[in-house]
Amino acid sequence: MNATILDVRDLKTSFNVKRAGRKYRVKAVDGVSLSLAAGEVLGIVGESGCGKTTVGRSIVRLVQPDSGAIGFKGADVLGARGQALRDMRLNLRMVFQDPYASLNPRRSIGDSVAEAGDINRVFKSRADRAARIAETLSAVGLEPSFATRFPHELSGGQRQRAGIARAILPAPAVIIADEPVSALDVSVQAQVLNLMMDLRERLGLSMLFISHDIGVIGQISDRVAVMYMGRVVELSDARTILDRAAHPYTRALMAAVPKPDPSQRIAGAIETGEPPSQLNRPAGCAYAARCPLVSERCRAEVPELRPLAPDNRLVACHNL
Ligand SMILES: Nc1ncnc2c1ncn2[C@@H]1O[C@H](COP(=O)(O)OP(=O)(O)OP(=O)(O)O)[C@@H](O)[C@H]1O
Ligand SMILES: [Mg+2]
Repeated sequence: MNATILDVRDLKTSFNVKRAGRKYRVKAVDGVSLSLAAGEVLGIVGESGCGKTTVGRSIVRLVQPDSGAIGFKGADVLGARGQALRDMRLNLRMVFQDPYASLNPRRSIGDSVAEAGDINRVFKSRADRAARIAETLSAVGLEPSFATRFPHELSGGQRQRAGIARAILPAPAVIIADEPVSALDVSVQAQVLNLMMDLRERLGLSMLFISHDIGVIGQISDRVAVMYMGRVVELSDARTILDRAAHPYTRALMAAVPKPDPSQRIAGAIETGEPPSQLNRPAGCAYAARCPLVSERCRAEVPELRPLAPDNRLVACHNL
């Protein structure tokens, strides 16, 4: 196994929200630990609202976590200031679901792609800047002439390629891709996924790949973390999760994926109901209300993530 490049320990991030005149604290991420090895792709999967984006935004410091520790190559991400923080921002780069979120509609593609380089004065000259933009665009399969175009002139797939170019221009070590293909047509999804896998090989990138789509996650990830209501409930290599999911929630996620062969369908993974509200978290396991294995202990005590024999996958469940 390669050296750990990114190490997240007991991350907690919450938000103040107001509903019907009352103030609540939403624990979007409630004690997440995960690590990423150099060159690895770690998938994060889970349904809407489970905190996937908040994990990513906490790592790149777009939101301020309440507590926890994040290490990048052993350096403290959350405590970084000044030059150390700028270096961190060049090394930990995000790709967003909607490239409009990262591409300013009034700026040319070239200017958007070069932005991190401009801010950090990494270009030696105007010619160097233009060459780096052209090189980066061609790395994502766009002609250099795209530099002078504007986001609205591009197709969805081209825009996402530009979003990826913007992320990789500073030669980052880690890409945090938040649903990078979810907004694209299915045919284009495969092309952009292939591009990301290709870039990972060519540039030696490590990646956190966030998606609610376990099929997409399975294609690109070495290991997978399954999140439910702000916590990781199962973490293992992708094959183990895809073929032999252990946590009842992971099994339900897998059962929801259409399978052509009936023998491949997972038995006993029936679940009912909606996830409990983030504003009204249950005392014990957050999955208890939907879980076919639920026992008394589940309603009282939050299960910790622990290794499970025989393969030492990590699972947070009292009943396995
Ligand atoms: N800036 C914010 N202010 C208030 N609440 C927030 C904020 N960002 C996220 N949340 C809440 O935190 C929880 C987790 O949100 P998050 O966006 O991280 O989930 P997600 O897993 O990325 O969901 P999706 O699949 O829909 O993108 C949700 O309940 C969400 O409403
Ligand atoms: Mg999200």
